[in-house]
Amino acid sequence: MTDKTPLNAIIANRIAEQGRLTFAAFMEACLYEPGLGYYTSPGRKVGAEGDFYTSISVHAAFGRVIAREIAQMWRCMDSPARFTLVECGAGNGRLACDIMDFLAQREQEMYAGLTLVLVEREPSLETAQREMLAQHDGRVAWLGPEEFYSGRFTFSGCLYSNELIDALPVHRVLMTADGLQEIYVTLRDGELAEEAGPPSTPAIAEYLQRLGIELHPGQQAEINLAAREWLATAARTLENGFILTIDYGFPAAELYAPHRTRGTLLCYHRHQVEENPYIRLGLQDITSHVDFTTLMRRGEAEGLQTVWFGEQYRFLLSAGIVEEIEEIERSAASQEEKLRLRLTLKKLIMPEGGMGDTFRVLIQSRGVEAPRLLCRRGIGG
Ligand SMILES: C[S@@+](CC[C@H](N)C(=O)[O-])C[C@H]1O[C@@H](n2cnc3c(N)ncnc32)[C@H](O)[C@@H]1O
Repeated sequence: MTDKTPLNAIIANRIAEQGRLTFAAFMEACLYEPGLGYYTSPGRKVGAEGDFYTSISVHAAFGRVIAREIAQMWRCMDSPARFTLVECGAGNGRLACDIMDFLAQREQEMYAGLTLVLVEREPSLETAQREMLAQHDGRVAWLGPEEFYSGRFTFSGCLYSNELIDALPVHRVLMTADGLQEIYVTLRDGELAEEAGPPSTPAIAEYLQRLGIELHPGQQAEINLAAREWLATAARTLENGFILTIDYGFPAAELYAPHRTRGTLLCYHRHQVEENPYIRLGLQDITSHVDFTTLMRRGEAEGLQTVWFGEQYRFLLSAGIVEEIEEIERSAASQEEKLRLRLTLKKLIMPEGGMGDTFRVLIQSRGVEAPRLLCRRGIGG
């Protein structure tokens, strides 16, 4: 086959040595194998020249609206002299830059006491992040994931992420007449193939039991144990403040609904959606939709409050995207530029088929009494 990459041999050897892999171990290799994984190899991933768009690559207005809400969080915490922003999975630093630019221009008192900490699993991205954030030199710090997730780092402020959770490796399951089975990756005649077997860990069945979800016979689904872990660890770093998570996904009842017979696993390559994760290993992105119910419940178990959860378009509209675009429009040089901005707005907030519907925003807090966030005032409020 022409689409084989160096990862094929590595994964095949691993299966030969250790036996079949869980899908999570396979996905981990495809995305994060040092130097060869989708996120750990050179090349443009996001934007027109990459494989997919994220809201960040669509327009700076997205980051500016998030910055408006973050400034409101700071006010809800009584405008502390020091405030730490943490971004997990910062990619090339574009979102952080849009947020910092807004705060530097519009929230000078907050900006004066602001530190931004970037946590990114792929260390080589630091160069791009440094370039992107050059104007904010002195306010930005880098923390390796080991240090961040070690339990030694704590902060007061806001931790945010965009499309991080959907990039965490998932286990895949299949409901059969004999009960819940896990889908493993094995070799058959030298080619990667799937095989079902008993779950690799009791945590998988417990995950579904906790949610009261019973899959239907024949139904496949993803179980993101790493997301649950991530939220717990992130929650423990937060002394006081907020966790803001943006990603595509659903509440559990919708994510695991009977009509979703094949789960939500998808691959992206050069803006084409691909269902087969066993081709172009390391060259295509592999993702799955996020189970927001588990994030909320895990957060609550760690002492967080769920402040707001809803569609991205609701969040953006109530936090001020229209004002933001109007402001940018005023400085637009031509009618064409104004029209382009309108289309951008549509892409970010269109409920049907745009990024505004499947994308959700979850805000959790610790130690902030009934925060009056912008998103809570509702659309047009
Ligand atoms: C889909 S990309 C999103 C990048 C950026 N936030 C955006 O929206 O364009 C996910 C990023 O998260 C990083 N990542 C994955 N697991 C991580 C973890 N546990 N902690 C920090 N970063 C992580 C990946 O290396 C990758 O750069």
